Amino acid sequence: MHPRQELKQLTDLLLSDESHWGERRESLQEMHRLFVDLNHFNAYEPAVKVDEEWLPNGCAISPRGAAMCLFEITRTRLFVKGIVSAIHQLLKEQKTRPLQILDAGCGPYALLSLLAAQYFSADEVQFHLLDIHETNIDASKILIEALDMTDQFGSCIIADACTYQWPPALPLHLIITETMLNGLRKEPQVSITLNLSRQLAAGGLLIPEHVAVDLVRINNSIKNKIMQTAIDTGYYGELDFSDCEKKLSSIVTLTKETTVADITRKPLETIMLPADHKPDFHCLQFHTTITVFDKLVMHHSDSSLTLPLHFSQPNKNPMDAGRTVAFHYNTSTNPGIEFEFVN
Ligand SMILES: C[S@@+](CC[C@H](N)C(=O)[O-])C[C@H]1O[C@@H](n2cnc3c(N)ncnc32)[C@H](O)[C@@H]1O
Repeated sequence: MHPRQELKQLTDLLLSDESHWGERRESLQEMHRLFVDLNHFNAYEPAVKVDEEWLPNGCAISPRGAAMCLFEITRTRLFVKGIVSAIHQLLKEQKTRPLQILDAGCGPYALLSLLAAQYFSADEVQFHLLDIHETNIDASKILIEALDMTDQFGSCIIADACTYQWPPALPLHLIITETMLNGLRKEPQVSITLNLSRQLAAGGLLIPEHVAVDLVRINNSIKNKIMQTAIDTGYYGELDFSDCEKKLSSIVTLTKETTVADITRKPLETIMLPADHKPDFHCLQFHTTITVFDKLVMHHSDSSLTLPLHFSQPNKNPMDAGRTVAFHYNTSTNPGIEFEFVN
């Protein structure tokens, strides 16, 4: 079978709503094997570059780390589904052909663009790849050539996406960027989004469409009861913790409309801990929700990008009722949410 045919079958299985978790995992493992056969970039090889790069607005993970992202089943699946849906919408709304798409932080397999490209023709869309690591751009080019998909890919750019300027003569219709960790910490998702979104053509789209980080209070006493019941009944399926979670405030929201002023406002939010707050059994966490596109949403704990981030726990940084905390977002080398006590 031609590698392109094989890749299409694996991608169909990954995206299908009928496939189960094990099949999706296997399709990604097979995909990785196929990529390694074609471009020799093996995430597991000891020789593969493992150095992160600290840039002025966040850390670019290593080429090995970027390759490993493929194995995040829910993330990869929802991002590719989201890109395919966004392109369908743009094809309906925009007259220009081909649509111009920038994959900012493409990694060594140009994974998100490559998988989505299979559902469109070169007359409909052109993907442009950008990454800070030359290794990633070189490996992506080899893969695209081996898959005979060069007609769907335009420029390959080695640059910092936080400052990159898209050629003004060409309308930019879609930006894809997955350069984030939970709580929008460490990696430069925020600065990349701020820089590139303002270069979008009218009606252009951003993937992910919406990222929200909320401050949530967890009632450990209720949570422990739910877990104890699961242990007592021997039930280890999906547990519903919604009763023990209470959103206290929205801290950061990131969309294509977000401006530098929105993000750097000080404080972003100020919160007084409610009178019933008990530091010995309440935890405070940042919960990240990623709307990749439309109804394709990753809630907290669906992937490493949305794992809850602890802010205050009974044995670490406990906070009393009535304390007032101010939050702001730092966009410098090590980005993330920061806080200070107001009283
Ligand atoms: C989390 S990986 C995602 C790789 C791939 N897009 C995927 O989804 O599997 C992030 C990628 O963004 C690149 N990157 C991070 N910060 C960047 C920046 N400021 N400019 C350009 N590329 C960057 C990294 O080198 C890495 O390849």
